[in-house]
Amino acid sequence: MTVTTIIGAQWGDEGKGKITDYLADNSKVVARSQGGNNAGHTIVIDGKKHKLHLLPSGILRKDITSVIGNGVVVNPDVLLKELNNLGKERGKLFISDRAHIIMPYHKLLDGGEESSKGKSMIGTTGNGIGPCYSDKASRIGIRMGDIMDDDMIIERLEKALPRNLALLDHYGIKNRLTIDSLFEICKGWRESLGDFITDASLLVNQHIDNKDNVLLEGAQGVHIDIEYGTYPFVTSSSPTTAGAALGSGIAPSKIDEVVGVTKAYLTRVGSGPFPTELEDEVGEMIRDKGQEFGTTTGRPRRCGWLDLVMLELSHRICGFTSLAITKLDILSDMDEIKICTGYKLDNDTEVKHFPSSLSYLARCSPVYKTFAGWSSSNIDISKGIVPAEMRTFLDFISKSLNVPISIVSLGPGRDETIVS
Ligand code: GDP
Ligand code: IMO
Ligand code: MG
Repeated sequence: MTVTTIIGAQWGDEGKGKITDYLADNSKVVARSQGGNNAGHTIVIDGKKHKLHLLPSGILRKDITSVIGNGVVVNPDVLLKELNNLGKERGKLFISDRAHIIMPYHKLLDGGEESSKGKSMIGTTGNGIGPCYSDKASRIGIRMGDIMDDDMIIERLEKALPRNLALLDHYGIKNRLTIDSLFEICKGWRESLGDFITDASLLVNQHIDNKDNVLLEGAQGVHIDIEYGTYPFVTSSSPTTAGAALGSGIAPSKIDEVVGVTKAYLTRVGSGPFPTELEDEVGEMIRDKGQEFGTTTGRPRRCGWLDLVMLELSHRICGFTSLAITKLDILSDMDEIKICTGYKLDNDTEVKHFPSSLSYLARCSPVYKTFAGWSSSNIDISKGIVPAEMRTFLDFISKSLNVPISIVSLGPGRDETIVS
């Protein structure tokens, strides 16, 4: 029995969906613990692409129980759409009664908040994630369990709506939201989703007690974590090992394995600092070859070299027991490949640790180690053979972070994976 957490070690989109789907083979439960439909996880099965935003990546397997944990923010309409798209070919689903609901006013407010920031906008996915987590922290959120009871719906709406309407008014956003209209919407959600709502913490812990393999599927990445990301250019949840435990209602000590998923290079969607960003033809080549366009928003992802300073912080906070390195195939057939091993402050003083201050970070420039490229013709996935140059590249990452590499991913499909 193993409880494994899958964590995005960078700025999201590392390939968590693929790795979750791959590891799900031996699992009974796959749970999402944080974030919402800002996530976009792609799974490719027999050449067919599946994009999931809210449903855990185990949902496509009939023998796996999928859980949306208490730390997730749920847009019920998005969830219903995803479920309808899947049809009957899916496993069981449970939603935590403690998970907060993204209400229609949250999505409207996300747009208003972003517009008001002008040039300093965060570049959110516009899905109401921040406003929903704000209401949760302000103790005026509405939880999935609340919609099971008419009186509770009204009580919660009476707390939440006045403040949200005032905010919408502040941003000049016209709307027709009333307690009555939202009450009807909530009742509709109860009808369609009520059967899935449960105490998900109890459920996941029962599986752990039964010695089942459990996967906790992280969304986003450590560097857009609300605590340790490049604040304020972050999301509003905690895509860390600690966040995974809390958001699925299990004790941190129950987690056995923590797989840090990292691309062999680096991407970022939205605004914020990016020390190794490649704003040149190499960056464009990586974007085109790697199809680096957002799964959720379609926005082009910014591309750059792998950054070990970032990964050191991710490992420090999350305690990776192994790494899954994805998209190595995208770097194949390049003359040379770089890895950032440290920063120089004002081109002078060595900086080894990722700073919290963005103005300090802006003064940092990356120091690179250059590696010889490898040829795609020297890769044989079925035999687990990778070129010597790729091995050198991987060994350097593993030794620098002192974490073994358990998975090497060389394509989006399940069979394009080497496990060591
Ligand atoms: P996630 O949010 O971390 O699940 O990642 P996304 O699904 O947003 O983005 C990763 C993209 O890369 C998806 O289109 C995957 O199908 C694809 N992918 C994952 N691993 C690999 C890989 O090793 N090679 C290639 N070429 N594509 C990959
Ligand atoms: P997955 O799970 C990449 C980014 C947004 C924005 C910031 C805040 O697919 O890796 P939000 O809507 O969360 O308030 O936006 O966070 N962001 C992601 N970037 N992958 C994600 O998820 C992301 N989820 C949010 O682009 O910069
Ligand atoms: Mg994604």
